[in-house]
Amino acid sequence: MRQLGVCYYPEQWPREMWPRDAARMVAAGITIVRIGEFAWSRIEPAPGRFDWAWLDDAFEVLSAHNLKIVLGTPTATPPRWMLTKHPDMLPVDANGRPRRFGSRRHVDFSHRAYREEAVRIATLYAERYGRQPALTAWQTDNEYGCHDTVHSYSDAAHYAFIDWLREKYGTVAALNTAWGTVFWSMELSSFEEVALPYGTVTEPNPAHALDYRRFASDEVVAFNRAQVDAIRAHSDRPISHNFMGRVLEFDHFAVGADLDIATWDSYPLGFLEDRISASDQHKRTYARTGDPDFQAFHHDLYRAVCRGRWWVMEQQPGPVNWAPHNPAPAPGMVRLWHHEAFAHGAEVVATFRWRQAFFAQEQMHAGLLRSDDQPAPGLAEVTATGREIATLPPQAKVPADVALAFDYRSHDVTAVMPHGTEANAFDLSFAAYRALRRLGLSVDIVPGSLEGSESAKLLLLPGLATLTDAARARLAGRTAPALLGPRTNAKSASGGLPARLPPDLAPLLGLTVTAVESLRPDMPIPHPDGAVHLWREFVEAAPAVTIRSATLDGHPFHLAQGPLHYLAGWPDDALFVKTLAMLCAEAGIATTPMPGGLRRRSDGRTVTYVNYGPDAHDLSAFEPGAPRLGTLVCAPHDVAIFDA
Ligand code: GAL
Repeated sequence: MRQLGVCYYPEQWPREMWPRDAARMVAAGITIVRIGEFAWSRIEPAPGRFDWAWLDDAFEVLSAHNLKIVLGTPTATPPRWMLTKHPDMLPVDANGRPRRFGSRRHVDFSHRAYREEAVRIATLYAERYGRQPALTAWQTDNEYGCHDTVHSYSDAAHYAFIDWLREKYGTVAALNTAWGTVFWSMELSSFEEVALPYGTVTEPNPAHALDYRRFASDEVVAFNRAQVDAIRAHSDRPISHNFMGRVLEFDHFAVGADLDIATWDSYPLGFLEDRISASDQHKRTYARTGDPDFQAFHHDLYRAVCRGRWWVMEQQPGPVNWAPHNPAPAPGMVRLWHHEAFAHGAEVVATFRWRQAFFAQEQMHAGLLRSDDQPAPGLAEVTATGREIATLPPQAKVPADVALAFDYRSHDVTAVMPHGTEANAFDLSFAAYRALRRLGLSVDIVPGSLEGSESAKLLLLPGLATLTDAARARLAGRTAPALLGPRTNAKSASGGLPARLPPDLAPLLGLTVTAVESLRPDMPIPHPDGAVHLWREFVEAAPAVTIRSATLDGHPFHLAQGPLHYLAGWPDDALFVKTLAMLCAEAGIATTPMPGGLRRRSDGRTVTYVNYGPDAHDLSAFEPGAPRLGTLVCAPHDVAIFDA
């Protein structure tokens, strides 16, 4: 069932406003309200002194209006007194400077005493509200990793890292071997000598940097798990966390393993400005809509992170305050973003925030109401969406024909050693995703283990840096095609070059990558169907391998043996689309090439078209009947939904 939600901060508004706010939420079709995630200073104004009355009251007001509540633990915003109690709890930046109090996330994930404080407050929240009828779900903390806080160079992180290494390697000799510290006389004689990998004269040892990133990811997992355990001891309600767009510093699948619902915060216009690698022309075209694929990619990613259950916890309702430029969404886009999320299986789409604040850091961030309490443009669109979703059949969960592997560990590898400024694992995966969407395909994302990919008629694993045994076994078991590379299995588990050159899949795939090169963006290598750009590989192939296509300078690009295909380079958009169209045709997967900014998703029961672009599109070219919502000619920024 699709539901609308909103993020609300009762502590920021006079008590007299709450009942009217709740009634207006209900009138807008909203059924779910998230509260509490930044309210620590009002709950515990001084250490051990509590004021629960206002939050009890907020629960009562909202539940009197039949609104369901998501309660966030307030651990992203510890009050000022916490710092007096734990002066060393601050994260430290890569210049060795402690970050300061006065905004949020002034918390080091490795600080053990702060972790206990987090467990303490989460326990108190859970004891008090864990069985309240109005409570529909929990949110742990808020946006792990926001404001670049996963990597901290504090003493707390240092001690914890040493413990983590001791556990991993057992002896410092094993660490020296794994890291290759003989290079440049970096050998260590005890774990205590290990430093954090920052401030070195030139780049730190990549194995050191990689272990540090994996340690830091584990710290986020452990921080979250401590709260989850505390909550579960007193509450049977599902637990969520609100992840973000393109945050790659920790393994979201590992955090998701402890949660019941993955949620994410979708700010399409802000993301287009500061999180997407694209041309200025692309950014201008989509400045008021957001990128046509970025939201969908994350919808599919977060659907995977918690085994199917996911929400949008914060949806942009108007201009945000934090991107380099903050345009207003084109009319219709707030509605479109909602429908798109529901089309990808979101159970709830909640807007951030109910009313624009007239104070503090986010006073320039739109809400559904203006700061003077009048409706902002987003409110009418949310209300219209609410009426529309009530007419739609329940969402289905039919597996997609195509699966795409996305692996945070591969991102770590390219972050530590990109070998080419643009050559990062996220952009490669996203390029593959975009090409699939241009073909009108619906996609399921799977983790690096390839778990869940078995039924896919086509599996893509671009840039999976290290194939685990599980992934190798799943590849070996495939009869339907899988498309690998570039960079598949190019690193050992410790981040060095593997003993056998990649992808090391003989006899399944008898080819060897003997050399690689990264390329300036302005030196593409032409191919009959486009070009290879940014990254290219030179391969030797066994006789069993067929060369399916080559670049014009005569090097194999697309190779195949049985169901396994390999790309020896990073295809540009045209070449990616052509190659995938051919593979889909061979795999019996129907494609529907999408013009311009038109995109399509089928969940097996309904087919949703969203038009991010500036031109109208006649959908009768793609669908036989009439839409159940919208019109056959889909206007810019409009939505059309058909029965599948
Ligand atoms: C999110 C955050 C919210 C708010 C919002 C503004 O990243 O979770 O608290 O800051 O951004 O766009």
